Amino acid sequence: MTTKKPELLIRELLTCSIIMEKNVAELFFELHRKTRDPVIKLLFKTIALESSNHASILEDIADTYGLKQEGVDCREYHGEQCIIIESVLNQLKNTSEVSLEELKIILEKLVILENFIAEETYHKLLLPLVIDLLPNNTDLIVQLINKIVVDEEFHEKTIKSILGRIKSQ
Ligand SMILES: [Fe+2]
Ligand SMILES: [Fe+2]
Repeated sequence: MTTKKPELLIRELLTCSIIMEKNVAELFFELHRKTRDPVIKLLFKTIALESSNHASILEDIADTYGLKQEGVDCREYHGEQCIIIESVLNQLKNTSEVSLEELKIILEKLVILENFIAEETYHKLLLPLVIDLLPNNTDLIVQLINKIVVDEEFHEKTIKSILGRIKSQ
């Protein structure tokens, strides 16, 4: 990954981040539908909507700067995360309601996922590339991506709070 030209890196990273956000949104909508607790449902829907919003914002950035890339193998960027999402989605699609015990196991995986997206993808990779490569209105785009990072921190914190609540029951 490090031997790639930065232009290709930002194209691939943006493309894979859009796919990732769409998949995360689908996962949280699915959790929202299959969880009984009304407050936990509400929080899942919030994370789903925000993730869908992130996909849309990143798509707009990619369109604005002509940075979409076809045929990217996203396992290079999000390999482990793709596996987590796929396995949880499969699990959810095969059940009509998720128990608290199942939810606990799922959320323990999703805390790691949300942290990875914020730290490894956006903070350490995407932001430095944006600062290096996007010459026009860099500060405004950085502000936009930082807003997404703040949301990711909220997602991680929220999932931890839900986990704490489940474990105390
Ligand atoms: Fe997100
Ligand atoms: Fe998130």
